[in-house]
Amino acid sequence: MKGFAKRTAEVSEYYFSKKLKEVRRLIEEGVPVINMGIGSPDLPPHPAVIKALQQSASFPESHGYQGYQGIPELRQAISFFYKQNYAVLKDPQTEILPLMGSKEGIMHISMTFLDAGDEVLVPDPGYPTYGAVARLLGAEVKTYPLTAANKWYPDFDVLEKSDLSKVKLMWCNYPHMPSGAKADTVIFQKFINFAKKNQIVLVHDNPYSFVLEREPKSIFQVEGASEVALELNSLSKSSNMAGWRVGMVMGRKDWIQEITKVKSNMDSGMFLGLQKGAIEALMLGNEWYDFLNGTYSARRDLIWDLATLLGLSFEKESSGLFVWAKLPEGSNSLNFVDKLLEKAHLFITPGDIFGSQGSGYVRFSLCLPEEKILEAINRIKSIEPIH
Ligand SMILES: Cc1ncc(COP(=O)(O)O)c(C=O)c1O
Repeated sequence: MKGFAKRTAEVSEYYFSKKLKEVRRLIEEGVPVINMGIGSPDLPPHPAVIKALQQSASFPESHGYQGYQGIPELRQAISFFYKQNYAVLKDPQTEILPLMGSKEGIMHISMTFLDAGDEVLVPDPGYPTYGAVARLLGAEVKTYPLTAANKWYPDFDVLEKSDLSKVKLMWCNYPHMPSGAKADTVIFQKFINFAKKNQIVLVHDNPYSFVLEREPKSIFQVEGASEVALELNSLSKSSNMAGWRVGMVMGRKDWIQEITKVKSNMDSGMFLGLQKGAIEALMLGNEWYDFLNGTYSARRDLIWDLATLLGLSFEKESSGLFVWAKLPEGSNSLNFVDKLLEKAHLFITPGDIFGSQGSGYVRFSLCLPEEKILEAINRIKSIEPIH
C-alpha cells in the first residue's frame, strides 16, 4: 500500500462525526445526555410527504435508476416553490437541478468551478464544508470575517482592498449559520455587486429561509443575481427531511449544465419515492411553516432562558435553527462545552468549529422538545456555575 492521497491530509474528520461518537458512548454507558448539538429536525415531515413515499415504494417501476436531473415533476415543483414563496421564476427545464442534499451540492459546485490553486472566499464563522471541500480539491481558502459588530455581514470595503485576482468562488449564507443573522436584500445586492465587479461566482446557501422567518428571501430577488449567482436550497430543515437528502441548486442554464455534467459522474439519480415525497413537501403552504415556527419559537424562548441562566448573552433578532450565544469575556468555548457535558450532561456546539470568529461563542440547536429543554434548565439550576 503506497499511502493515502495527499488530499486526505487537508481535512480532519468532521467535528460532529467525532464528538457524536463520544456522546453516543456516554449514552450507552447510561449517562442521560441531552443533545443540543446538531440541527437535525426531530419532528416528522408532513403526513402527505410520508404517504407519497409509501405509495411510490409499492409500485414495481419505482425501484430502477432515475434520471440525473430528477423527474420533470420534481423540477416543476421546485419552480413552483420558488415562485410561490420567493416570487422568483426559474425554468424547470434548464435552471434547476435537484440534489441529494445541499451538502453534496457544495462538492459538485466546487468541482465544477475550482482548479488547484484557485482561491475561494468562505465566511468565518460559517458552515465548515465550504472550506473543507475547497481544500480537498487543492484550492486555497480565503476566509472573510463576520463579526457581531457588523451584524455578521461582511465588510465589503475591506474585501475590495484585498487581492482578489485568484478568487473564483465565494460562499455566503443568510439566514446565517451559526449566528442566525437574517437575510437582507440590501446586503444581497452588495454581494451581487461585489461578485459582478470582481468576476466571482457567488453561491448563496439558503437552507434556513423558512425557519423563524416570516418572509423567506432568495438571492435571486435582487437585480443582477441571475448573471453571477447560484443558490442552494434544501428540504432538510424547512420540511423536517434531513435524512432524506433532498436539496437543489438553481442558476443560469450554462452553469447548471456544467454542474450536471460533473454530478452525473458521481451518482445515478435519486430514489423515486424520495422525489415523490419531496414534491409534496414543496407544495406545502403557510400553514405548515406557521406550525413549524410556532414550535421553534416556543423552544427558542426556553433556550434563551437556559442561555441566560448559563451567563451567556445573545441577540434576539435572529432566524434559523439555532441560538448563538456569547460566553463571558475570556472564556474558552471548547472548555465550556466539555465542562457542560461533564457536569450537566448537556451537549452544545463550540463556536470555534465554525472558524476563528466563532471563538468565545456556543451554538444551541432548537431540534429537541420543550420537555428536554426544561430538563436542561433544571439541571443547570442544580449545579455550580460552569465558568
Ligand atoms: C449552512 C448549511 N448549509 C448546508 C447544510 C447541509 O444541508 P443538507 O442537509 O441539505 O445537506 C447545512 C446543514 O446543517 C447547513 O447548516
